[in-house]
Amino acid sequence: MVVSTGINRVRTAVFISGTGTNLKSLVKFSKTKLSPISINFIFSNNSKAKGLNYAKKIKIKKKVLNFKNKKLSENKLLAILKKNNIEMICLAGFMKILSKNFIKKFKGKILNIHPSLLPKYKGLNTHQRVLNNKEKYSGCTVHYVNSKLDSGKIILQKKVKISKKETVVSLAKKILVQEHKLYPKAILQIFNY
Ligand code: GRF
Repeated sequence: MVVSTGINRVRTAVFISGTGTNLKSLVKFSKTKLSPISINFIFSNNSKAKGLNYAKKIKIKKKVLNFKNKKLSENKLLAILKKNNIEMICLAGFMKILSKNFIKKFKGKILNIHPSLLPKYKGLNTHQRVLNNKEKYSGCTVHYVNSKLDSGKIILQKKVKISKKETVVSLAKKILVQEHKLYPKAILQIFNY
């Protein structure tokens, strides 16, 4: 378990692959008085991730490693995280699967957000599959990361209603708004705030 004393906020890294809107919401949250975490590092496997421009703007240290050689990239990354005294990791739209070895090094200290009501709809193309199955509700989940995809212990979920005219785009948008609230809430919850 990670413990925040309130004075020394838990040094956290955010891993992204794309737009980085969850990264933005986490950074905003980390700057509030109540936040048990500080965001000190941003990592991406994708040099074109939009979220990296934001990282540059807010002057948080960042690193890109393409993960083509996963073992090598992970080992480099572990060394960098250690050097930067990172204690916790938030995956936010990170599209690579971390190895068992990597997860072991941060056991119980890696969180992820997924745009479905887990355990339903693990993996990719979530919204399309939800709509194909004519679900009435979908949502988002913050969970701990273990070695199985989208399967770690659930921390918090938010349900959203699917409208009759829902499309993949409208559903993704609707859920993303909730994700931005849910991730900070889940972090507060694990630190018992
Ligand atoms: C989010 O829907 C997240 O749940 C999923 O990928 C999307 C990332 O969005 N894993 P962003 O990069 O945070 O804007």
